[in-house]
Amino acid sequence: MCGIIGIVGGTPVTGRLIESLRRLEYRGYDSAGVAAADGEAITIRRAPGKLRNLEAVLRENPADGVAGIGHTRWATHGAPIERNAHPHRAGRVVVVHNGIIENFAELKTALQAEGRTFHSDTDTEVVAHLFDHELALAPPLDAFKTTLDQLRGAYALAVMIDGEPDLILGARRGPPLVVGYGQGEMFLGSDAVAVGPFTNRVAYLEDGDYVAVTRTDIRIFDETGATADRPVRVVPASAALVEKGEYRHFMEKEIHEQPDACQHTLSAYLDPVALTAHAPGGFDFQGVERLQIVACGTAYYAGLTAKYLFERLAGLAVDVEVASEFRYREPALSRFTLALAVSQSGETADTLAALKWCKAQGLATAALVNAHESSMAREADHMWPTNAGTEIGVASTKAFTAQVCALTALAITAAARRGRIDSGEEARLVGVLLEAPRLITEAMAVEPEARALAHDLARARDVLYLGRGQAFPLALEGALKLKEISYIHAEGYAAGELKHGPIALVDEETPVIVIAPSDALFEKTVSNMQEVAARGGPIVLITDAEGARHAAGSMRTLLAPACDPLVAPLVFAPAIQLLAYHVGVHKGLDVDQPRNLAKSVTVE
Ligand code: M6R
Repeated sequence: MCGIIGIVGGTPVTGRLIESLRRLEYRGYDSAGVAAADGEAITIRRAPGKLRNLEAVLRENPADGVAGIGHTRWATHGAPIERNAHPHRAGRVVVVHNGIIENFAELKTALQAEGRTFHSDTDTEVVAHLFDHELALAPPLDAFKTTLDQLRGAYALAVMIDGEPDLILGARRGPPLVVGYGQGEMFLGSDAVAVGPFTNRVAYLEDGDYVAVTRTDIRIFDETGATADRPVRVVPASAALVEKGEYRHFMEKEIHEQPDACQHTLSAYLDPVALTAHAPGGFDFQGVERLQIVACGTAYYAGLTAKYLFERLAGLAVDVEVASEFRYREPALSRFTLALAVSQSGETADTLAALKWCKAQGLATAALVNAHESSMAREADHMWPTNAGTEIGVASTKAFTAQVCALTALAITAAARRGRIDSGEEARLVGVLLEAPRLITEAMAVEPEARALAHDLARARDVLYLGRGQAFPLALEGALKLKEISYIHAEGYAAGELKHGPIALVDEETPVIVIAPSDALFEKTVSNMQEVAARGGPIVLITDAEGARHAAGSMRTLLAPACDPLVAPLVFAPAIQLLAYHVGVHKGLDVDQPRNLAKSVTVE
C-alpha cells in the first residue's frame, strides 16, 4: 500500500525522494507527492497517476530543500486525484500517511467546528489539522504525542513542520516504518527498500512507537512516551536494492528465482546429511491437536496446500481460513491448537489481527513469513522463515513456492515427531523435497509453450482452472494469478465440483485449464476433463509425460517434470505462473504493478 520516504540531510533531497518512491512503486499506488523544506518554508508538489506525472510537475515547478518527505498513495478515502494525493498541509504542518484513521469523521467534525477548512476527501488531512492545533499549545514532540493519542486506526506517518527544516517526525501503529542511519543525514521509510539507496543501517519501529529524526540524530519513543532502544540492523544489499537485472519484469525474474528461493528456504528446515526435517527454533508438534492456518490471497492457497500435507502425512487436523473472515468470526478453538499465520510481507492487516487474536486467546502461535523483521515475525511465539528474498512483483510467485516448501518440511517434521512415519520414511521424504529446486528449474522449460499458448488465452473473457487434491489449491492460485495480471475473469474449482454448477459455464469460448499430475487422482480428473471436452470446452492440460498420453488431439498440453506427489504443487507452479505472466505481457499490461492492487495490504 502507500509508500513513505523521509530524508533529513544537508543536500538537495527531491531527486532522492523520487528515487526512493520509484523503489516503492511495487507496493501499488495511484498518485504521488513530495514536500521539501528549504529554510523556513515547505513546498508541496503532487500528481495523480504514475511517478512520471509528478516528475513532470516538478520539471514545470521545481521544489527542493535539505529535508523532505515523499509518498505514493493507494487510495482508500477519496479518489486518486491531485487534491487527495499526499502530502497534506494544515497551517504549519505537512503530513504523509499510510493506513486508515478510523475516527477521522468525528475528529473532522470537531476541527471544522473550530473553523478549520478541509481541502481533500482523505482521512489523513485530519492528522495535519489536529497536529497543527496541538502545535499551538505545546512543543513539537509533546504536541505530536498528544495528536497520536487521539487517533484510532492504523497509521505510519511522516510529518514536517514549517520553520523546522531539521526535523521529521514519524509514528507507527499498524503499518511498518523504519528509520535509516546515514552519514550526516537520516532517513525514515516504509521499509528497508525505501531507504536502501541511501543506507543499509536500519531500525524497525515497534507498534506504537514515534520518532524524531534530525540530520544527526534519531530519537525513538514507545507509546508511553519513554525513550525506546530499537536495534540497528545491517540489511543485506540484496534485500534493500532489488534490480530487474536481465529480466523485463520483476515477476519474470521472481518466477525464475524460485529454485534459489526454495533451496534457501529448505536449508532452514532440512538437514541434507542426516536427511531429517525440523522446525527452525524447535517446536513440539506432539502437543498439538489442531493446526489453524490464517492467511490471505496466495498465502491462503499455500495454507490450503499444507492442509493436504499435514493431514495425510502427520494425521494433524488442519483448518485454513482467510484472515479477514477468521478475525471477526469468534472461532471456537481448543487450547491445543497451534495458530499459524502465513504471509510473505508479515504485515497484512487481517492476518496480523487474526494472529493477535489467537495469541490473546492463549494459543501457541507461529508466523511463516518472508519478511523476518515484520510485525507477524515479532508477534508470534515462533518465527518460521521463508528465504525467498525481497519479492517486488505484486503477483506473488517465489513467495508462494517458498511457503509451500516450508510447509511441506514442517508437515514432514510433524509426521516424524508424532510417530506417523519412521526415520526411513522421513529420510525418503526429505530426499524427495531436496530435489524440488532442481525439478522447479526443469519446470521452467515449459516457458516457450506457455508463451505461445498465452497468445490464444489472451483473447478469452473467462477461464476455468480445475484440479483435484493438492492440485486444487494450485487451480485457485492459477486463477488468481491470471486475474491479477491479465484482468481476465478466472475461477478455480475442485475438478469434482464441476458437475455441481460450474459446468454450465463451459462453452467453446471458455478455456478450461486442467492441472493433473499423474497421481492417484489422475484418472478422476481426466474424467472431469472429458466432461468439458464433450461440451466443446477448449482444454489446456498441465501434466507430466505420463499424463500427456491421455491428451486428445485438439487439447493443448503444458508439460511439467515427472515428480513424487509430495512436491507436485511446487513442480507444477511455474506452468501456471508463466502462463499468467505471458498473457499479461501479451496484452501489454503492467504485470509488476497491476491496476488497483497493492503489494502489502496493511489496511483491512
Ligand atoms: O504479504 P502476504 O503474503 O500476507 O499477502 C497476502 C496477499 O495479499 C497476497 O498473497 C496477494 O494475494 C498477492 N497479490 C497474490 O499474488
